[in-house]
Amino acid sequence: MDMIVPETERLQFMQDMQTALSQTPKRISPKYFYDQVGSVLFDRICELPEYYPTQTELSILKSHAGEMAECMGENADIIEFGAGSLQKIRYLLNVARNPARYVPMDISGPHLKAASAELQTEFVTLKILPVVADYTNPWHLPSSIPGAGKRIAFFPGSTLGNFSPEQAHAFFQNCVQHLSGGALLLGVDLIKSPAVLHAAYNDSQGVTAAFNLNLLTRANRDLGCDFDLTQFAHSAFYNAPFKRIEMHLLSLKSQIVHLNGVAYAFEQGETLHTEYSHKFTIAGVEQAAHLAGLQVGSFWTDPQQYFGLFWLQIP
Ligand code: AVJ
Repeated sequence: MDMIVPETERLQFMQDMQTALSQTPKRISPKYFYDQVGSVLFDRICELPEYYPTQTELSILKSHAGEMAECMGENADIIEFGAGSLQKIRYLLNVARNPARYVPMDISGPHLKAASAELQTEFVTLKILPVVADYTNPWHLPSSIPGAGKRIAFFPGSTLGNFSPEQAHAFFQNCVQHLSGGALLLGVDLIKSPAVLHAAYNDSQGVTAAFNLNLLTRANRDLGCDFDLTQFAHSAFYNAPFKRIEMHLLSLKSQIVHLNGVAYAFEQGETLHTEYSHKFTIAGVEQAAHLAGLQVGSFWTDPQQYFGLFWLQIP
């Protein structure tokens, strides 16, 4: 699976890793999980028995897709952020009324292109326009096409939870700016028993651990780092005061890692923080959306209220 990594992407990773290792505490963006291997590992996480978010969100989509299509209206221009393997959108595309176009956006280029080609064989007449982009920075959308209806953005999987509250606010503001008259269909993971949350990020097969550690493998391969994979461990825990799962790579001993000829020291027990996965209350999402100028419409959830999908109208 050796892919040629575009040089700009590699240099950005290099710069961000340099910054990550120079900071205290050390910290890197979770977007670097998603190289080709990482994208496949993430798909495996979604099938784990402990990782309830994907199955739960799919069950909500299955039960309520018709109502969502109603909200979308005809000829919708559908955009998806962090579209990944394009599994969830199929439920909406199956019921959408003559969608004008589907624009899946993702940072993992080859993965997105393969998934888009596969989707096209199932939805032969649908206009699919995959966009390889990092939507954690301010984003733009390709111009609307003639005859298109409302712009509907789909942001599933609780990927919003990766953002800090400030970044989430900026993302909502971006939506207000670019989706005027349309809506955001947002999927978020809801607060629940810490034991259930903990298990979802500490699966018994170790797939989440492999996903987390793959970031170091990627750094070794693409940046020439020398992380010793046997001396770092996966660490994930629920931080209740901050309502978030935190994932870290834990240094098992005092050690030195090199990047570009520069030595970076890890103390025993020191971590490289790799991900926040914020969990939400219904009221919390409504308040955050409202603050950015979005209007809360319908809300769908499962019987256990493990996961929620919000229809957020953009004025
Ligand atoms: C894709 C960001 C929503 O936070 O649950 C899964 C990523 N990390 N297992 C999440 C993830 C560890 C996932 N998101």
